[in-house]
Order: sequence, then structure tokens, then C-alpha cells
Amino acid sequence: MPAEPLSKARVRVFASLEELSREAAVRFRELACSFVAEKGRFNAALSGGSTPRRLYELLASPDLSAEIPWERVHLFQVDERCVPPDDPESNYRMIRETLLEHIPLPGTNFHRMAAELEDREGARLEYAAELGRILKPKKGEIPRFDLILLGMGPDGHTASLFPGTAGLEDHSAWVRPNFVDKFKAYRLTLTFPVLNAATWILFLVSGTEKAETLRQVLEGPWRPEELPAQYVHPAKGQVEWYVDQHTARLLTTALRGVL
Ligand code: 6PG
Repeated sequence: MPAEPLSKARVRVFASLEELSREAAVRFRELACSFVAEKGRFNAALSGGSTPRRLYELLASPDLSAEIPWERVHLFQVDERCVPPDDPESNYRMIRETLLEHIPLPGTNFHRMAAELEDREGARLEYAAELGRILKPKKGEIPRFDLILLGMGPDGHTASLFPGTAGLEDHSAWVRPNFVDKFKAYRLTLTFPVLNAATWILFLVSGTEKAETLRQVLEGPWRPEELPAQYVHPAKGQVEWYVDQHTARLLTTALRGVL
């Protein structure tokens, strides 16, 4: 039986990470411009890791950057490692170096996860308050991002929601520290309720070692505890998977035919 989200997921396969990144940059620009035209604002959450680096560089390139109304864009983090913002492992540092240092985004429009704080509960509450302040959900509702950029690890994790971790079971918090046993460390992460409230989700997946996991996530049986990316299926949103051809090589033609 195929995994539940398949019916709503759209998979696009690209020849290389470069091509994938270029198309993702075009999609980001299109969404930014249309949300700003429609409601005067574009709220997006960015993942860390290595795959989106090239996308961020492209968004920062003069031609593309000039077409994005940055003063009306708010950028958040999907997740962060519990390290200082200058640490080479910091997702914020990667986003700053590839994107923020090169675009005219007002400083107050980037919302950094202060995951380095020892007071994890304080960091969680602070970020949740920031989501509430900027995204302004109605009472009792969950903040709704216009776009969330996600990645997927070879173990099927997305954001910092790793297989078998307590964060998978959190149906109420918007943000939480999630202990990841294999790293013996906490990560601060948006939760599935927030991911699944988004209007648009774009997964960027590149890496031949992820091919079998991708097949399992998109075409295998429903076992999200082991493959957390399967939990991503926004109730009122659109999911797109941008995958390079090597990573997509095990997907059936039927799924690749959705292109
Ligand atoms: C992080 C992430 C994480 C990432 C995946 C894929 O902090 O690492 O935000 O969820 O998206 O691990 O990472 P790669 O792109 O490096 O393969």
C-alpha cells in the first residue's frame, strides 16, 4: 500500500543539484511575489543541512534577489543544532553566509532560533512567541507558513524530527527541543503540527545514499515512526519534492510520471 501522502505529493526530478536548486529558486521567487501581491507579506521557514546551500546562494545572486520584495519577507528557521551562531555546525551561520549577508532583508525580518541557550524551555517559548507575533494565528489555531523548505536525511528524518524521537509524538507545541540519541544532543525544531499547517512545502532531496529511503517514504508502507518525513502531509497545503535523478532512481515510473 502506498504511503498516505502520495496522492498529494508532486515529485519533480532534475538532472543535477544545480538544476534542482535553480528551479527551487524560481519557485521561491514565484511564491514570494504572489504572496506579497496577495497579502502584502511572505513568511517562509528555511532548513539547514547541505542541500539548500546552493538554493540560498542563487536567491542571493543579484538578478534573482532584485526580483524578490525582501522588505516584505520574513524568514524563520525550521530547526537548529544546539551550538552558538558562529559554530560551523550552525544552520543559522550557513543561512547567514549564503543568503542573509547578500540580500536587503531588514535585520528584524530574520527570526533566528537561539538553540545555543542552556535554558531550552526558554528558547522554545521565545521562538513560539515569535511565531505567534509574526504569523498571527487566530486563537486556538496553528501558525501557518506560506512556504516551508524541508530536507530529508538518509534515515528519513526531516527538520530535526528523527526516527523514534519524542518530538514525533508532540501534537501541541509549535517548537520544541528534541533529543536525538545518535548525536547525544538536543536540536530545536518546528513540530509536525506547524509543518502540516503550511500552505506550501518544498522538499529538496539530493544524495544517492537517500535513494532507498526516498522510495520507502513515497512508495513504501506507512511507518512514519521510522520514516518521519511520511508525517508531512499538510491538510490544506501543497507538497512538492524536488529530487535529483540519482536520488530518484528507485522511484517507480508511475510516481516519476507525475512530473
Ligand atoms: C539540519 C536540517 C535537516 C536537514 C536534513 C538533510 O539541521 O540538518 O535542517 O533536517 O534538512 O538532515 O540534510 P542534508 O541536506 O545535509 O542532506
